[in-house]
Amino acid sequence: MYHEIDLDKIDKNSEPPTEEPARQYYFMAKCREWVKDFEQRHSRLPQACVVNMGCQMNARDSEKLTGILENIGYQMTDSEEADFVIYNTCTVRENANNKVYGRLGYLHAYKKKHPHMKIALCGCMMQEPHVAQRIQKSYSFVNLVFGTHNLYKFPELFAASLEGEDMVMELWEGTDQIVEELPVERKYSFKSGVNIMFGCNNFCSYCIVPYVRGRERSRSPKDILGEVEQLAADGVVEVMLLGQNVNSYGKTLKGPISFAQLLTEVEKIDNIKRIRFMTSHPKDLSPELIQVMASSPKICNHLHLPMQSGSSRILEKMNRRYTKEQYLDLAKRLREAIPNLSLTTDIIVGFPGETEEDFEDTMDVVREVGFDSAFTFIYSKRTGTPAASMENQVPEEVVKVRFNKLLKEVQTISAQRAERLTGQVQTILVEEVNSQDPSLVTGRLGNNSVVHIPGDASMIGTFVDVTLEECKGFYYYGKPITTA
Ligand code: 5AD
Ligand code: SF4
Repeated sequence: MYHEIDLDKIDKNSEPPTEEPARQYYFMAKCREWVKDFEQRHSRLPQACVVNMGCQMNARDSEKLTGILENIGYQMTDSEEADFVIYNTCTVRENANNKVYGRLGYLHAYKKKHPHMKIALCGCMMQEPHVAQRIQKSYSFVNLVFGTHNLYKFPELFAASLEGEDMVMELWEGTDQIVEELPVERKYSFKSGVNIMFGCNNFCSYCIVPYVRGRERSRSPKDILGEVEQLAADGVVEVMLLGQNVNSYGKTLKGPISFAQLLTEVEKIDNIKRIRFMTSHPKDLSPELIQVMASSPKICNHLHLPMQSGSSRILEKMNRRYTKEQYLDLAKRLREAIPNLSLTTDIIVGFPGETEEDFEDTMDVVREVGFDSAFTFIYSKRTGTPAASMENQVPEEVVKVRFNKLLKEVQTISAQRAERLTGQVQTILVEEVNSQDPSLVTGRLGNNSVVHIPGDASMIGTFVDVTLEECKGFYYYGKPITTA
């Protein structure tokens, strides 16, 4: 196992190995030398801050960066006033990009006073050529830039940036490689994300993801199950299987396997008690998956099923490949097969050409399905996507009115849905001490709702049966059941 390799035993004077991941372990050893030198000069360890700005996939990537930095010898901190700061960026909406440029301004000011500081950028936003150009031209104080496809090369690229002052920039357009067995540092000891696939082949017309995350690639079931077994042996009780479109898992593998079959295999791993997954595309959600979810004691009763719009006309322009009626039918079949299913969604308002009637269709579906929660987004024009050049972009004032109307409806409905569970006894997995009130701990139900109960840090990572005493719209106050 690579995880057990002793970096101090690697011969740093030999040529770097050509095979992966051995090559990256060699560069980790090189970086560790640099850390030791830093420690001698400053009488302390260097500090590193990894800032995650994106989705669950990005969060998992950040855990990989953290794992590598800790192996090298860095001390991790949440403060951006550190010796090394890396932004793992998102680019799904324009405002995410603007935030990065703003924050870089602050980092620059800090770096001027602390010239030894190193700054790196990675993630989805870096995969956009115009971004890379702008960084190169106007943000020359950044030391290292890489993308989503070559994240596994972080040790090698980091070593190069530690050696010189010039910006190291390496961006790949795509890859078919999946490099396994690099160190990972999990944020939580008891739960973990597990990548099952990378990239996306759907090309929804508004979405930049296929351009920045590349074509769909599934990991082999052997590698996935091996990783989950290892996590279970380390004390993990909940896994979240991650992919842009988990329902098409396995289609690109030699011995094809369906997502439902993969779930059945994960279910067999003893110490795993809860299984979640994200994200599902409605067009690929099979009857087999509904049946597996319905009969599984471990798969959580939560499904995130992005709808995007309730108008068949807009759905077609979005290239979603389902209609309003098909979405409604799917939601109905899911609710019938899985009682107490929490159904959540993503909705975009103001897609080009959206009329009042289209918007009313969205409101219709929201009311008919009764989502347990919904993330609502204002359409954001992403350069290079087909929707960016569509006619009839909706005026900002119109979008804002629709957005507020939708948000209000969604919040009212989800509060009503949540209220149904008040008074019930349910099980939570305790995740952390409440940051506002240390006499409380916070956990999650199988349906992903948040519950606060009296408790202390010793309960973290344990399952507790609780009475849901009070519903506050999208979270609950509860009380542990005391057994005689
Ligand atoms: N504008 C607004 N929202 C978007 N999303 C993806 N692309 C865009 C865009 N261009 C939303 C979708 C997706 C979620 C992750 O982000 O709703 O499901
Ligand atoms: Fe953002 Fe999409 Fe990248 Fe996730 S995959 S970080 S949502 S752009």
